[in-house]
Amino acid sequence: MKALQIIALLLSMLLFVACGRKQQQRASIETGNKRPQTAQKLADPKLERGKAVYDETGCAVCHIIGEIGGRTGPSLNGIGKKYDAKKLREILLKPQTLNPNTVMPPFEGSEEDLKALVAYLMSLK
Ligand code: HEC
Repeated sequence: MKALQIIALLLSMLLFVACGRKQQQRASIETGNKRPQTAQKLADPKLERGKAVYDETGCAVCHIIGEIGGRTGPSLNGIGKKYDAKKLREILLKPQTLNPNTVMPPFEGSEEDLKALVAYLMSLK
């Protein structure tokens, strides 16, 4: 008789724990509804990275995007419409292709950063 009681007790404890787990899962699904917003912000990590490269490299010293930046170089608003990715890449690596006496320095970062930067510029339409 005692053994049965203990088993019953254990079973009810198990049930209790299992129910608790389910509730936890449900709670995380419910709060999960709010998550896509932050996820959306980072939806395209490559563009985020490209923007960071742009900021880190100091392109804004000479160029404006939106209304922020210097005016030594032309505005980059709409630059993704003006050139294709291949041409942008060429300009970044060898700004002299536009003007042999340009003050723009060639991009010297990694290939990955260059790709991200080009993708970011291409998104400015
Ligand atoms: C020291 C100033 C300077 C810096 C820094 C600079 N640029 Fe430039 N950039 C220029 C100038 C000036 C031109 C225009 C070409 C010329 O006449 O010299 C230009 C041209 C360009 C063009 C072509 C624009 C067009 O409409 O034809 C792109 C794209 C560009 N720069 C992107 C960048 C990016 C991206 C960076 C950062 C990695 C950068 N530039 C850093 C000065 C700069």
